[in-house]
Amino acid sequence: MRAAVCRQFGPPESIAVEDSYPAPDLSDVDSVRVRVAAAAVNFPDVLFMANQYQMTIPVPFIPGSEFAGVITEVGDGVAGLAPGDRVMGTTMVGAFAEEIVVAARSLSRIPDGVGAPAAAAFGVAHRTAYHALRTIAEAAAGERLVVLGAGGGVGLAAVQLGAVLGLDVTAVASSDEKLAVAASCGAARGLNHKTADVRKALKEALPGGTDIVIDPVGGDLAEPALRSLRWAGRFVTLGYASGAIPKIPLNLVMLKGCQVRGFQIRDLVANVPELVRRDEAELRELLAAGKVTPHIGASFTLGEAAAALRHVADGKAIGKVVISVG
Ligand SMILES: NC(=O)c1ccc[n+]([C@@H]2O[C@H](COP(=O)([O-])OP(=O)(O)OC[C@H]3O[C@@H](n4cnc5c(N)ncnc54)[C@H](OP(=O)(O)O)[C@@H]3O)[C@@H](O)[C@H]2O)c1
Repeated sequence: MRAAVCRQFGPPESIAVEDSYPAPDLSDVDSVRVRVAAAAVNFPDVLFMANQYQMTIPVPFIPGSEFAGVITEVGDGVAGLAPGDRVMGTTMVGAFAEEIVVAARSLSRIPDGVGAPAAAAFGVAHRTAYHALRTIAEAAAGERLVVLGAGGGVGLAAVQLGAVLGLDVTAVASSDEKLAVAASCGAARGLNHKTADVRKALKEALPGGTDIVIDPVGGDLAEPALRSLRWAGRFVTLGYASGAIPKIPLNLVMLKGCQVRGFQIRDLVANVPELVRRDEAELRELLAAGKVTPHIGASFTLGEAAAALRHVADGKAIGKVVISVG
């Protein structure tokens, strides 16, 4: 099968598209084979390739953790899914290929009317952002939300979902282009951290403080964002796309009576399965009803996998980056 393969750790350019990579085995009875139509690119794909993620995937491997396509084969133990079904799913790696074999439980049907690119782009970022807002921050309509990295995958999903949940959203990003997209996704205001003093600008924009901060970026922006919380606000740390894990003075947490929480999406099913089920059912309804559609800022072919990964690695992605495979 055709696949984009990482045979040695390195930058995005170390990926190579191969025409005869062996198709994965369907030996597990609970597995399903999917003919991939589209896959989405995530920041961790870049980190896996550079061997800079929390865990190492041995080479050779096929990056890609989000995909949508059509089932071509199911294991003997699979019920409720059949060849021909349109499905979307998430995995650790393997999506930048014509075929993928995954556990049936990691798949869900694509709602009618939703195309493969949107379905592929609706996995990790929206699930992470929704769980952060709904379950971790317990966001309530009318509250104020500050989103860092608001033009990126997780950030823009948080902007969209925050607006849908009735929050007053302040988007923080590095360019006016990203802020314009965030505005079109429901942000009430935008703040360009390249041209403004974030701490001062947040204080001016939200004099009473914000209720919630969603932070997938870390680095130098985390502390001024945490300082913008009102008393008893909630700060959710989700990732460190800036490359720097911030060190926050703990006295700020005491003085603000605030909560600082975080999670990794892959740990949730094992720890809070019922909350995951609830969040995913609600999210699916939002997608099926057309209330939330992932913003696809750039599309590439499988042959352009390196360029797609480079786009994400350089922080240029606006919303989701999708690779069409089929
Ligand atoms: N906790 C979880 O379960 C979970 C789930 C998904 C993702 N994540 C993590 O969340 C982070 C963001 O993921 P994402 O999919 O939103 O990524 P993304 O689409 O690439 O967006 C990341 C944002 O980070 C900012 N950034 C600052 N410095 C950057 C740099 N040197 N390189 C790239 N981006 C930079 C950019 O915003 P500016 O415009 O402000 O510069 C960019 O829009 C990643 O660290 C990822 O691993 C965590």
